[in-house]
Amino acid sequence: MFNIDKIRSCFPSLNITDNSGNNIIFLDGPGGTQTPQNVIDAISNYYHESNANTHGSFLTSNRTDAVMDETRKNVSIFLGAENKNTISIGHNMTTLCFGVARALSKSFKKNDEVIITQLDHEANRGPWNTLKSYGIKIREIKLLKTGELDYEDFENKINDKTKLVALGMSSNALGTVNNFIKIGKLLENHKSMFLLDAVHYAPHFSIDVQKFKCDFLICSSYKFYGPHLGFIYCKPGILDNLETERLITQNQSAPFRIETGTLNHAACAGANAAIKFVANIGMGNNLREKLENAYSQIGKHEHNLASILFEEIKKLKNFNTIGVGFDSLIRTPTVSFVHKSRNPKYICDQLAKKNICGWNGHFYAVKAIQILGLEKIGGVTRLGVSVYNTEKEIRKTVDIISKI
Ligand SMILES: Cc1ncc(COP(=O)(O)O)c(C=O)c1O
Repeated sequence: MFNIDKIRSCFPSLNITDNSGNNIIFLDGPGGTQTPQNVIDAISNYYHESNANTHGSFLTSNRTDAVMDETRKNVSIFLGAENKNTISIGHNMTTLCFGVARALSKSFKKNDEVIITQLDHEANRGPWNTLKSYGIKIREIKLLKTGELDYEDFENKINDKTKLVALGMSSNALGTVNNFIKIGKLLENHKSMFLLDAVHYAPHFSIDVQKFKCDFLICSSYKFYGPHLGFIYCKPGILDNLETERLITQNQSAPFRIETGTLNHAACAGANAAIKFVANIGMGNNLREKLENAYSQIGKHEHNLASILFEEIKKLKNFNTIGVGFDSLIRTPTVSFVHKSRNPKYICDQLAKKNICGWNGHFYAVKAIQILGLEKIGGVTRLGVSVYNTEKEIRKTVDIISKI
């Protein structure tokens, strides 16, 4: 049973109040979630008990090796991957994506094609756009005014020259969940690789890389209750053939081949704890079952609250909601909207006065905001529901918005 009080008690930051005594309301999850106590403890305990570099003879180094090994194993279970050697660790999604793009630029040839979308975060566009300087053609899938991708455009643009499709699983600006299963199926008849950006998807739904038929998947643990750290899944066999930028002293095989220097061991301990935090919400006989069960509960809770938020804002005469509605379950709990005359920053300022955290702007999904004609008004106001939010918080937020 989903127990919101128990979940909230895990997050010390939910007790923050402002000078007027307003309890903080975090609706900034798409920019990064709050951190539960077990994650904070795991990071702190690492420094108390295990702090060292890897592969030494001594106790704390052995403990660090164990932390890294367990983290890789649990991330692989979290992503439904074949084994822990498919999981590489990096600074964040952006850095990992640049790393893969640079590596692939060495095997792609002039006139090869890479497909990106107009809906994606720049982190899944910019690294691929750098390949233009090698003569590689970058083709953009159109974003429709509805906030969805044009799937006919995929069918028109995927061809024998396509070497990679880089697709976000869901939009951090609009909450659209893209039909990545359809694209995975479409690519079965082609030689193209398939890369998924799971950053905005991972906090809300369980992931199964083998079912999604992707070659790469990248996510960031700070969006699902962990510290600032990125992970990349590379399908078995792929990374060993990539010309990554690496030192001659680096372990040359997967998963280490794309990793650089000393990793953030404490953050890895924290990310592992974040996976355990999510799993503990669910029931099951093993970590994978618990994660899947937890996500079905989290998904329902978040969808319910976000649909209230969306529908209530939609009713207000001064506001317009942006993007697809909540009548389907396939939607992240991210609600974006605009005021008829006030800019998105003004809306966030009014919310902040009552200690409510929301974001305004394009959130690096700048192309999508441009296509929707929203850049000139400063983008949108974005409120995202996370596991710890309550209906009371949503109602209070709506009440404040309705007075603007
Ligand atoms: C959908 C999406 N992709 C990529 C990123 C970039 O992630 P990172 O900060 O880990 O580089 C973000 C960050 O907001 C995002 O929301």
